Parts: sequence; C-alpha cells; structure tokens
Amino acid sequence: MKALVLEKTGDIKDLKENLVFRDFDTPVPKEGEVLIKVQYAALNHRDVWITKGLYSGVRTPIILGSDCAGTIADSNGSSFKNGDAVIVNPTINWGVNQSHQNKNFSILGLPENGTLAEYICIPSKYVYLKPEHLSFKEASAFPLAGLTAYRACFVRGKITAGDNVLITGVGGGVATFAMVYCIAAGANVFVTSGDEDKLEQAITFGAVGGINHRIENWEKRFKEIHPKINKIIDGAGGGTFAKCLDICSEGGTLINYGATLGAVKNFEMRRVFWKQLNIYGSTMGSDEDFANMIEFIDAKKVKPVLDSEYEIQNGAEAFVRLESSKQMGKIIVRV
Ligand SMILES: NC(=O)c1ccc[n+]([C@@H]2O[C@H](COP(=O)([O-])OP(=O)(O)OC[C@H]3O[C@@H](n4cnc5c(N)ncnc54)[C@H](OP(=O)(O)O)[C@@H]3O)[C@@H](O)[C@H]2O)c1
Repeated sequence: MKALVLEKTGDIKDLKENLVFRDFDTPVPKEGEVLIKVQYAALNHRDVWITKGLYSGVRTPIILGSDCAGTIADSNGSSFKNGDAVIVNPTINWGVNQSHQNKNFSILGLPENGTLAEYICIPSKYVYLKPEHLSFKEASAFPLAGLTAYRACFVRGKITAGDNVLITGVGGGVATFAMVYCIAAGANVFVTSGDEDKLEQAITFGAVGGINHRIENWEKRFKEIHPKINKIIDGAGGGTFAKCLDICSEGGTLINYGATLGAVKNFEMRRVFWKQLNIYGSTMGSDEDFANMIEFIDAKKVKPVLDSEYEIQNGAEAFVRLESSKQMGKIIVRV
C-alpha cells in the first residue's frame, strides 16, 4: 500500500523531506482486528507536534493520523461485513474507569501506525458504523477532536440548554466541535478567536457573539458585554485560561482540554475560591463516551466544520496549514 510516512522529526520547514508518501507493507489483521480501506483521514495538532519531536515516545518511521472513515476490507470473522462504511475510535485501552484513562492508554497514530495510509488494522471493538447523514469526508473529521469536545462539553461540563458557554480559540479542531455540539444542545454559545473572519463564521454557525483574543484586555471588554458566562471550554491554557477565571461568573465551571499556550502564569487562586469556581480537566474520551457521541451526532444530525482538503501525496501542505493556525475547523486528507 501507499502511506504518508514520517521518516524523521524536525522543523516544519523541513517537513516535505521528513514526511514521505511511499510504499509501506499492507497490514494484516490479527485475531480480533479488522482491515479498513481508508477513504479520508483528518489532522490534529498532535500530529504537528509529533513531526517536530515534541511528543513523548516519538518513534520513526511511523504513519501518523488518528482520524479516519472508510470501508471494511476484511471483516476477519467480526460482526462487520466487507464493504460496511465505518469510523474508528482512536482511544486505545481507555480501561474500565469512566473518570479517567488507565496507564496503558494510547492514541491511534503513535505508538501504533495511524490513518494516513490506504489501509489500517484495528481491533473491531474500536470500529463503529458511520452515521448515515455524514459523507466519508465529514465522518473522518470526528474521531479525536469530536470525542475530546464531546467529553469536555457533556461528560465533564454537563452543558445543557440555556447554559451560557464561552469557547476559546474557535478556529481549532476541538473548539469547532465544542461550538457545534453546544449549539445543538441548545446552549447560548460565545467564542474567542484571533481572526475576525472566524468570529463572523462562528455566528453563521449559530454562535451568539464573540471577541478577538488578540485585543488588549479583551476579557474586560467581553465581561462588560456578557457578564453571565457560566461554562467555559478552553484548549489554550496560558494567559487565555487566566483571563477565563475572570470571565467565568460565580459558581461557574471551566473545562480545559489543552495547553496550546503552555502553563498559566499569574494563576489567580483567589478568584477560584472566592467565586466558588469548578475547574475540570478533560482528555479524549472512553469507549462509552465515543458510543454516546455517535448517538448524539446521529440524533441531532450534527455536521463538522471543515476547513480544507488535501490529497494524501500533498499531506505535508496540510500539516503546514494546521501549524499556521489559519484553519477554521478540520483539515481533511483524501486517501
Ligand atoms: N486533552 C486531549 O485529549 C486533547 C485532544 C485534542 C487536542 N488537545 C489539545 O488541544 C489544543 C487544541 O488542539 P486542536 O487539535 O483543536 O488544535 P488546532 O486545530 O491546531 O487549534 C489551535 C487553535 O488554538 C487557538 N489559539 C491560538 N492562540 C490562542 C489564544 N491566545 N487564545 C485562545 N485560543 C488560541 C487558535 O484559534 P483561532 O484560530 O480561533 O485564534 C487555533 O486555531 C492543543 O493544545 C492540543 O494538544 C488535547
């Protein structure tokens, strides 16, 4: 088969040399696994960090990618039929606790080979029938980012109709899913972005309003206009999370799933106790969360926000776009 293979880690400017579209041994399903012919894959920020060597346990050569939609090429005695249209849960070995993943937890696409290839083998327990309202392209966007947003919004954040929710960095893959999920659940959604066009796009998707997080003291301006934000979904961390402590109203809840901006300096602990805030961390999701996400997107006919599509042989260009933060939603790779 052909695959997009990371041969070595390095700077993004060298990615065209380090990420090579080449022949690779077609995997053979072991007992309990199925073989999937990948139609579309999608990128996550994790993939960019791995190419730079900024992720624990990086090995090369490796096929990256955690997301895909495709068809069963060898059902290998499972309950699937050859030709079934499917998507894959990229959470490997979550374990039995719903509250957190166990120590063997890993994500498809490192350490095991991922989805940026013509074929993948995966245990059938991680395979789900594709919701019918989604094309292969749309379905491929959901797995990692959609699951992370689902758990952050509904399992940790318990967001329901009427909540006033702020979502930071709405152009991001997880953030756009959080936006469409919260809107589908009937919440009033507000967003931040560093790009005015993305703020406008968010409103066309049903967000109530937003603010540019590049404006100085944006949090003060935002709080004056919208003083009743009771839930915040944040993947930025750093200075943005610190400002969220200010924005969140008394008794409110902050859910964090990422730290694109790094550690939070000047963390105002007094805001946490005085305002009686709840702070939750959230990572990926359990098998149960994935199944519930499929049910939710099926019931509400949720569609992803898609940014752009690249052919797999031009995959390095897709990584460069993700690194640049120009995207609004998911970057898709056609296999
Ligand atoms: N815990 C987990 O399970 C999990 C899962 C997936 C991702 N993550 C983490 O979550 C983060 C986002 O991942 P992703 O794949 O969605 O990334 P992504 O698609 O690359 O999105 C990154 C976004 O960060 C936003 N951003 C940049 N500067 C910001 C600021 N000052 N304040 C607020 N937002 C800012 C930008 O939004 P605008 O373009 O709108 O400005 C950008 O689009 C990453 O740190 C990733 O590692 C964690």
